[in-house]
Amino acid sequence: MGNDTLSLLLPRLFLVLSALVALAAAQSGTDCNPIKTSGCPLDIGLTNNPYGVDFTKGTMDQASWTSVGAGSVIYTSQGAVLTLSKKGDAPTISTNWYIFFGRVEVLMRAAPGTGIISSVVLGSDDGDEIDWELIGGNNDEVQTNYFGKGNVTLYNRGGNSAVHDVQGTRHNYTIDWQIGQLTWYVDGKTVRTLKEEDAVGGLNYPQTPMKLRIGSWAGGDPDNAPGTIAWAGGVTDYTKGPFTMYVERVSVTNRYPAASYSYGDMSGNWDSIVLKKDDAADGNQSKEGIVKKDGSRGVASATNSTSSSSSSSSSSSSSS
Ligand SMILES: *[C@@H]1O[C@H](CO)[C@@H](O)[C@H](O)[C@H]1NC(C)=O
Ligand SMILES: *[C@@H]1O[C@H](CO)[C@@H](O)[C@H](O)[C@H]1NC(C)=O
Ligand SMILES: *[C@@H]1O[C@H](CO)[C@@H](O)[C@H](O)[C@H]1NC(C)=O
Ligand SMILES: *[C@@H]1O[C@H](CO)[C@@H](O)[C@H](O)[C@H]1NC(C)=O
Repeated sequence: MGNDTLSLLLPRLFLVLSALVALAAAQSGTDCNPIKTSGCPLDIGLTNNPYGVDFTKGTMDQASWTSVGAGSVIYTSQGAVLTLSKKGDAPTISTNWYIFFGRVEVLMRAAPGTGIISSVVLGSDDGDEIDWELIGGNNDEVQTNYFGKGNVTLYNRGGNSAVHDVQGTRHNYTIDWQIGQLTWYVDGKTVRTLKEEDAVGGLNYPQTPMKLRIGSWAGGDPDNAPGTIAWAGGVTDYTKGPFTMYVERVSVTNRYPAASYSYGDMSGNWDSIVLKKDDAADGNQSKEGIVKKDGSRGVASATNSTSSSSSSSSSSSSSS
């Protein structure tokens, strides 16, 4: 699997571990990074909001999803069936759109198999990330993780939570991603909360528009770095496959819907993100705005992202 595929599909944790053996090239990814490069393409936003899909109806919803990895993805009464059957497979579906804060609910069953990782990843163009990761060799645990602005410094960002029978039983993995606080829920129970200020004073808090990717990959591939294989629970034996993950339903609420998002500057801070709304319904073809520090929407030209605010949840943006 090439680095380009890896950076597209895999959670940042994999990259952290890979970085230990200088796979650093994968970190930057193939996409334009708006905090390093100007002129990156706009991010198309989810406007059909809230969005829901029931893959068990055999729906693939091509308008919203693209299959982005090698391996088989089919849609049956069991849901989106993502099958990893050989080396190089990393069956993954990605949304075509981005959300800017909000709620993501995934009802799924993880893939079994030593070294096989099932992932639900919200990821942005500048390396913000919110993850669920399920290790095939452990049927009773889910890992949570987050990254900000591509900072892959090893630290205790990861969390582990007990969940019974993640492979045999469908569970509800919900991320509630808001300005100020991020919460991970399993089956309606909070398993982890991250306050914005606790992520390096907000600097590394995930806060830029994100796409959702769901898929599996072989962290235990024998060609991976030893640290990655160890984290994945051991070397994958492909002859024990195929390894299948089932995604039944996905619901997404975009907190700040817009036709598109762009980075107003290179800070990567949430109040620099420019929301563009094409709203033919009210006769306004194009309106621009940003999310202000109090969480309300403002007009870009009338709002200064370095201005002060009394909001208690504005710790991310003390970048002046
Ligand atoms: C990256 O994150 C670590 C903590 O995980 C923090 O100590 C460091 O300051 C961060 N670096 C940047 C550039 O944000
Ligand atoms: C999944 O969990 C979330 C968070 O608790 C909850 O709001 C939602 O209703 C749950 N969905 C289903 C289908 O049970
Ligand atoms: C267009 O946008 C402006 C400013 O948000 C608003 O006042 C107006 O009602 C909208 N609709 C039309 C038809 O102009
Ligand atoms: C925003 O505020 C900063 C600091 O007060 C100022 O330098 C900058 O010109 C302002 N930008 C806009 C667009 O008003």
